[in-house]
This record gives sequence, structure tokens and C-alpha cells, in this order.
Amino acid sequence: MIADTKIKLRDKRLVDALDDYTWRTDLELAQLDATPLLTITFPQYLSDYASELRYPFSTRRPFAVETLDGKHIGNCVYYNINDTKGEAELGIMIGDRDYWDKGYGSEAVTTLVSYIFHQTKLKRIYLKTLNSNRRAQKCFQKCGFTSYGHLSKDGYSFTLMELHRKQWQEQQTET
Ligand SMILES: CC(C)(COP(=O)(O)OP(=O)(O)OC[C@H]1O[C@@H](n2cnc3c(N)ncnc32)[C@H](O)[C@@H]1OP(=O)(O)O)[C@@H](O)C(=O)NCCC(=O)NCCS
Repeated sequence: MIADTKIKLRDKRLVDALDDYTWRTDLELAQLDATPLLTITFPQYLSDYASELRYPFSTRRPFAVETLDGKHIGNCVYYNINDTKGEAELGIMIGDRDYWDKGYGSEAVTTLVSYIFHQTKLKRIYLKTLNSNRRAQKCFQKCGFTSYGHLSKDGYSFTLMELHRKQWQEQQTET
């Protein structure tokens, strides 16, 4: 478990499945994240969920985001881990709307980035977010990510952002 001033990141547990299913079947969250709405039933979802917890993917490291008093408010992950290229993609979702725009997302991202650069040899973290998702872009900018281009895919327009280990180290000495 990794704690900061507002949030802690911890390993995923089976009891998270209901929250995650609720968020994955929420139309607004799906639209903000440009992901398809989940259509499987909860029992099917739970079975897949248990199997992924038991046999985790080597290229993907998910965490639950909790408040300091233990409320599960979202998830973050680094995935598409490529040790040869030294990079991985980052994803975050604060599913509980009561916690938007209060600094929880940026603290979760900062904590995850710090974990990645301290605990792995990865040199670059990248992500994509919809051009229209200004909140997400602002959140990532606050965490030190910079835009390096745009991508059109499946009818969506994304802003591409990245953070290199060297930039991150420089930012640490500035603060
Ligand atoms: C995107 C997300 C992770 C950000 O987390 P958060 O806790 O809400 O973000 P933070 O409070 O740390 O930062 C958001 C910033 O955006 C600002 N903001 C909010 N709406 C904005 C808008 N329409 N335009 C510009 N800035 C905006 C906030 O004021 C805040 O900036 P500030 O701290 O300078 O005031 C979270 O809101 C979320 O998961 N949303 C739903 C799913 C989603 O968008 N997923 C896509 C992720 S790529």
C-alpha cells in the first residue's frame, strides 16, 4: 500500500468488483474515457474479475484508489508495460463523482508515477485522453505530463501526453 495526503493506492481485491462494475456500466464515465459500455452481467464480470486477480497479466499493474479513511473511489493502472522500450501507458478513473475536482485524481497520478519511477526501470509514461476532456488534461498537466501530439481513432480525437523519467526527476528537484 502507498499512501499520500488524500489517497492511498492498494492492490485490487474481489470486494472492489461491484464498484468497478457500477463504474464500467456508467454511460458518462464510459464517454469520458472513450471506452465501450460493459454489457455483460455482474456474475460474468465477477468470474472474469476473480480470474484476473488470481492470474494477473505481467504487462498490467492495477491499483485501487482509496481515501485515507478507506473509501474506494476509483482505480489507476499502468499497462502495456514494455520493458524493452522502457515505457508503459497510464490510466486513471475516479468513479465516485463526489471526489472530482478536489485533487484526488492528481494525487493518485502523482503517487502512481512516483511508484513507477522508484520501483521499476521504466523511462517513459504515456497516456491518451479525449480532446474534449479538459478536466483530465488539466489533472495530467498538474502532474507534470506534457502533450506530444494528437490521435484520431475509432471516431474519437485524443490528446497524447507523456512524462519522461528525466523530466520527472527535474520536477522533483524544483519542488
Ligand atoms: C479525470 C480525473 C482522473 C481527474 O481527477 P480529479 O480528482 O477530478 O482532478 P483534480 O481535481 O486533481 O484536477 C482537475 C483540474 O481540472 C480542473 N477542471 C475541471 N473541469 C475543467 C474544465 N472543464 N476545463 C478546465 N479545467 C477543468 C479543476 O478545476 C482542477 O484544476 P485545479 O486543481 O487547478 O482547480 C477524474 O475527474 C475522473 O476520473 N473523471 C471521470 C473519468 C474520466 O474523465 N476519465 C478519463 C481519464 S483519461
